Amino acid sequence: MLEQGKGILEEEPWYVSAMSNLSSLIMAALPDLNWAGFYLMRKDRLTVGPFQGKPACIHIAPGKGVCGAAVARDETVVVPDVHQFPGHIACDSASESEIVIPIHANGQVAAVLDIDSPVKNRFSPEDREKLEALVRLMEEKISWAER
Ligand code: SME
Repeated sequence: MLEQGKGILEEEPWYVSAMSNLSSLIMAALPDLNWAGFYLMRKDRLTVGPFQGKPACIHIAPGKGVCGAAVARDETVVVPDVHQFPGHIACDSASESEIVIPIHANGQVAAVLDIDSPVKNRFSPEDREKLEALVRLMEEKISWAER
């Protein structure tokens, strides 16, 4: 997955194209997912970006849900059981576990990678490590140009 991710980012680093193909790559490469994609920081809140899965919440206010918590804490949040996470936003009722990883630009959180699974405890420490490596690669290569 990392090798393919690198290929995607190197062929076209523009964030819309890269995030679109990366969300598709994650969905295809990892079993048991129901949603994989990105929320972007825009006007001080998170707005949905490229993703794979059912239509999702469009805006997430600061600090809200797992995505908001990952931004506020500026760290990866792994939720083994979303029903135990206070304030979890249920965009897709199939979701049982979730991982959210902040993506930085110029030292600030610019977006998050959000992945949901219909299986509890889906995300192992190894999954977290690989996905964080993919995000580090994005931070290194992505272009945030408008168009
Ligand atoms: N469950 C997320 C909201 C986004 S959807 O999962 C796509 C949260 O609580 O942040």
